[in-house]
Amino acid sequence: MKNTKFIILLLFVSLFFIDNACAQGDGVIEMSTKNNTLLVSAKKGEAPLLLYYGSKLQTPQDRQFSMGKLRAPLYPAYGLVCQDEYAIQATHTDGNMSLDLVVESVEQSDEKNAGQLTTIRLKDRVYPFFVDLFFRTFPEQDIIETWSEIQHNEKKDVVLGKAASAAISLPTSRYWVSQFNGRWACETYLSESEMMRGVKLIANKEGIHNSGSDNPSVIVSIGAPVAEDHGDVFAGTLAYVGNYKILLNLDPSTRLNIIPGINEEFSAYHLPKGEKFKTPSFIFTYSSNGKGQISRNFHRWAIDQGGLYNGQKPKDILLNSWEGVYFNQNSADLNRMMQDFASVGGEMFVMDDGWFGVKYPRNDKSSSLGDWQVDLNKINGGIQALIDTAHTNGLKFGIWIEPEMINEKSELYEKHPEWINGQPNRKTINRPGRGQMTMDLTRKEVCDFIFNIVDTLLTKYPGIDYIKWDANHNITNQGSFNLPPDKQSHYYIAYHRGLEGVFARIRAKYPNVVMQSCASGGGRMCYGFLKYFDEFWVSDNTDALQRIYMQWGASHFFPAGAMASHVSAAPNHQTGRSIPLKFRFDVAMTGRLGMEMQIKSMNDKELLFSKKAIATYKDIRPLVQFGDMYRLVSPYENEGMASLMFVDRDKSQAVFFAYHPRVRAGEDLPAWRMSGLDPKALYQVAEINSIDAPRIAVAANIVSGDYLMSNGLRLPISGEWSSIVLKLERVEVK
Ligand code: DGJ
Repeated sequence: MKNTKFIILLLFVSLFFIDNACAQGDGVIEMSTKNNTLLVSAKKGEAPLLLYYGSKLQTPQDRQFSMGKLRAPLYPAYGLVCQDEYAIQATHTDGNMSLDLVVESVEQSDEKNAGQLTTIRLKDRVYPFFVDLFFRTFPEQDIIETWSEIQHNEKKDVVLGKAASAAISLPTSRYWVSQFNGRWACETYLSESEMMRGVKLIANKEGIHNSGSDNPSVIVSIGAPVAEDHGDVFAGTLAYVGNYKILLNLDPSTRLNIIPGINEEFSAYHLPKGEKFKTPSFIFTYSSNGKGQISRNFHRWAIDQGGLYNGQKPKDILLNSWEGVYFNQNSADLNRMMQDFASVGGEMFVMDDGWFGVKYPRNDKSSSLGDWQVDLNKINGGIQALIDTAHTNGLKFGIWIEPEMINEKSELYEKHPEWINGQPNRKTINRPGRGQMTMDLTRKEVCDFIFNIVDTLLTKYPGIDYIKWDANHNITNQGSFNLPPDKQSHYYIAYHRGLEGVFARIRAKYPNVVMQSCASGGGRMCYGFLKYFDEFWVSDNTDALQRIYMQWGASHFFPAGAMASHVSAAPNHQTGRSIPLKFRFDVAMTGRLGMEMQIKSMNDKELLFSKKAIATYKDIRPLVQFGDMYRLVSPYENEGMASLMFVDRDKSQAVFFAYHPRVRAGEDLPAWRMSGLDPKALYQVAEINSIDAPRIAVAANIVSGDYLMSNGLRLPISGEWSSIVLKLERVEVK
């Protein structure tokens, strides 16, 4: 009977024996994207093995040859072999702590708008314990998404000590690892180091957000330090905003094992019979042409395949009121800001923190979170009056909320002190100076409350087009008064399940509202959130010099259109640095442009320039938000001097940015080389967004793509804080 089932299965699999993903007679599964191949051995009754992941295997001989090289466990389980790093560990009802997982079956099916979905079903040889491994290919973008689902039929709960999303191994070599670390005001700083023997962890335990410190992403360069345009590179990012671990282990055979997933520390999960435990997705890619191609793969996937919510929708230029008035949100100032922003061509106005609280008005961080009623003493006529003013000025309207949080000083806390998370017999640790706590999202009534905040705002005020969703606290006192004693270790995971449930409800009802993911700056810069959010706030630091570094880091995984990037006042409020307005605009224009300042404090010349810059951005918006990005001169290697460009997909237009922040006497400036153009095409090069007359004349500059890429241009930007923006248009020459 068992055999018959297997034969039927083989027949079924062979039905899907199509170009991009196929199971061969030898039990080898091939999953291919445009330029890459993933080979897995999945023989029934044997442990699955990763045979190969790298550039596309062109011939049967190549395939045959590559199969013997790696042979790494595809999803290593703890128990029989105890010394190796593992992806999963489970303790069975009888106390046995081991797993012995072998292949039961393999299924492959075509996916709507993507490539194929391969499911490798594993079963413990003895226990009724099952793991399904999923691989979804996105052939055009060279991306693979992988995750696992775990369930069992044992009599009592099985305790999952670890359940990683995947395990990827790379063959024996030397490796260089790039990671993206930071803290508040300096998120996603890029660093690279050679991987030494042993274990390296990129991890987070903040509970609620994770990318303000270490972004859950990694780039591994094989054989040499990473380069933009050459070399073999692997990269992956975990779509999860909670505690995570990306474990890298250079094992004794110098094979590199990469195990990404939920951070198992303090998170043992008691899995009941029949419940499915789904891990977050790990999204990965490979390039033989350096990390520039890696980034473009992720960007195109985010834009075209839903990695970024509404990724193909152009994003409005907005003014956010935070740095203009901070907690002093009030009708007079906000109305003036809207009027001023409209006069320079802005498209949306967003009211930030400070607009709410009746019994306890929100005048600083210490009160009111949870009391989402407008403070009529500050906002005359309420939210609708502001929306009306926005509309009168031709602007859309957006609003800030921080719905997962509660202040001790709030009406909500007086009514529902039980809604916070915490531990018995311990005092809850508030965020110092804020009296701010996180709510317990394992409670259905808390999730309903959070959904209702958004639902009430959006139904009562259909004129709200944008929500900035903030989260300014970590989980402290891990634990829940709602969960039973033996499920306390579920809190971190259950929190995020609750939150995802809220987002799913919001998106089902409000598919078009634009949402920004913010968490004390860039704390939620991650594809776990971006499948619901249109964009993220990169950092509370709006200083243009530091933004060059941070946006450069973020660009490795996230498209420019997703990066909220605002022009703010000089001197800058975070660094005290005064940077000329043009330079500030030229930096902010490489993301989703916005402003965050009092426009009324600008002089006439600055106003005129802002108007020009906003008009320029409208012209180049499709290139920046949807084009292919090429990083050219790295600020990390050149004391802040940098250049990058965006090229449209048919290579007929491009926009180039270069920054020269610091003057150095006697410095020899390089010719600024470009990339991504059609070498055979001729391009007309024009300076745009110039402060005075363009320094490069328009008509004269017709240059070939080849020249621009191999020789580059000498540019007049040698002074302090000088920058330049060039637009390139392909011209037909008869
Ligand atoms: C942190 C955010 O990153 C800021 O932009 C601002 O919204 C404040 N919170 C408001 O409290």
